[in-house]
Amino acid sequence: MKLTWSDVTPQSVFLDRRRFMAAGAALGASALLPGAAAALTGTPSPFSTAETPNTFEQITNYNNFYEFGTGKEDPARYAAALTTDPWSVEIGGMVDRPGSYGVEDLAPDNALEERIYRLRCVEAWSMVVPWIGVPLASVLEKVGVQPGAKFVAFETVMRPSEMPGQTRAILDWPYREGLRLDEAMHPLTILATGLYSEPMPKQNGAPIRLVVPWKYGFKSIKSIVRITLTDRQPLATWQQMQPSEYGFYANVNPTVDHPRWSQATERRVGAGLFAGREETLMFNGYADQVAQLYAGMDLKANY
Ligand code: MTE
Repeated sequence: MKLTWSDVTPQSVFLDRRRFMAAGAALGASALLPGAAAALTGTPSPFSTAETPNTFEQITNYNNFYEFGTGKEDPARYAAALTTDPWSVEIGGMVDRPGSYGVEDLAPDNALEERIYRLRCVEAWSMVVPWIGVPLASVLEKVGVQPGAKFVAFETVMRPSEMPGQTRAILDWPYREGLRLDEAMHPLTILATGLYSEPMPKQNGAPIRLVVPWKYGFKSIKSIVRITLTDRQPLATWQQMQPSEYGFYANVNPTVDHPRWSQATERRVGAGLFAGREETLMFNGYADQVAQLYAGMDLKANY
């Protein structure tokens, strides 16, 4: 039997009463409905934070997903239109087994882990999210990374008929991101297919999205359809849009301010009006695990 985070933590800590009852009702209903999405279970991980996660409501109603609009509530309002089944991810470039992979091939049920991570947006708000997913390294090992590959590039689905934001030139679509290979192989880096016990909500990047907890949230690209191994540093969307404000690395760093605002503190979503701001931690609190990836690098120049 697999233990989940909810087995070791009182439900009331992370699920408000309303949510708890709704989840119970939904479980009852899904048992009767053939084809209804099953609950996901992830093995607990030593990489999880002990901090209290945000509620499901908060995590799914305050989002950045510009494909659905620039407002924080736009993704929750419009993402239902996105078709996520069937879905496949094209993996190519410098790999031994290029091809089109189903989400279940990349993140099979028996490999799922629970990773409760801090999420720090470059806009200086933060949350704690109980993701469910698999290490990106496990996927890269499956497809076989060829010697000479140095970077991993990612692309979000391009589907303007379902994503109203893509009909406007808000960004240069499709949304693109990239990691250095050692960042991609780091055990903290995951491809997430769910949160709490639910398949990934569409507004959070269904059916599969990247999560890199020590970097600003914009690196954690949603609704991925393409992963490419390459020997050249890929150009990411935000970096391309505004290179003086959004770098390739985008490591959370309280000592390097955004040109238009401080990065020294953050607002925890849902903390309440009088909670006050929290100090932002170097590498978002993951310095012990990741600082050595950047040994000797000038982090002011490589923001
Ligand atoms: N991925 C895509 N495709 N489009 C986006 O607009 N926004 C990014 C990131 N991934 C974004 C994206 C930003 S700025 C943040 S902070 C996180 O998603 C937010 O993730 P969440 O909505 O699940 O909290």
